Amino acid sequence: ALWTGIVAAVSYLIGAIPFGVMITKAAGLGDVRKIGSGNIGATNVLRTGRKDLALATLILDGGKGAFAVLATMLIFSDLGFRTQLAAVAGAAAFVGHLFPVWLGFKGGKGVATFFGVLLAMAWPVGVAAGAVWILMAVLMRYSSLSALTAAAAAPLIAWAMGTPWAAPPLVSDWRPVAMLAAFMAVLIYIRHAANIGRLLKGEEPRIGANKG
Ligand code: G3P
Repeated sequence: ALWTGIVAAVSYLIGAIPFGVMITKAAGLGDVRKIGSGNIGATNVLRTGRKDLALATLILDGGKGAFAVLATMLIFSDLGFRTQLAAVAGAAAFVGHLFPVWLGFKGGKGVATFFGVLLAMAWPVGVAAGAVWILMAVLMRYSSLSALTAAAAAPLIAWAMGTPWAAPPLVSDWRPVAMLAAFMAVLIYIRHAANIGRLLKGEEPRIGANKG
């Protein structure tokens, strides 16, 4: 319980680093929360017109989730305990991104961090969910809809891969992976409420349209 608490707290603080805000400020573009959708994520950074900064935000927001999970896996050697603790680290980093103490608990929508966490927990699940995102983005050209589809698919992918006929045992137990994916998916849906509203009204800007 002590370790769980420490891992959760440290992972939360790592997840709470608001890279999108920091990067756009450092580039002299002002506060990304005042443009487009007002979100701090890579999709909204892209609305500044800076693809390089959007890519950096995607990688760093994903990377902090992956880092929390991988660091936990490296520190703890007991296999069963490690998988569960890594899932706790991933969930905490994800929550940190959504509710960062540094931004008055008003954070992002979690999509990049969700992918980073999944790739680190069980990379085949992350890769498959990423493929769903890319396929939807190519077909529909909505970042939010791609994220919502990938988020819904991820727990099912994790569950399917945990069946005996599927992937090699990358983690000792797949249930924490499926539960973690489901937990993050629910929060992603809650955070995309405004996007869902716009999608239903046909008002969501497509990827590449320069407003939100
Ligand atoms: O990654 C967040 C994306 O799904 C939606 O972002 O800025 O269009 O609300 P945004």
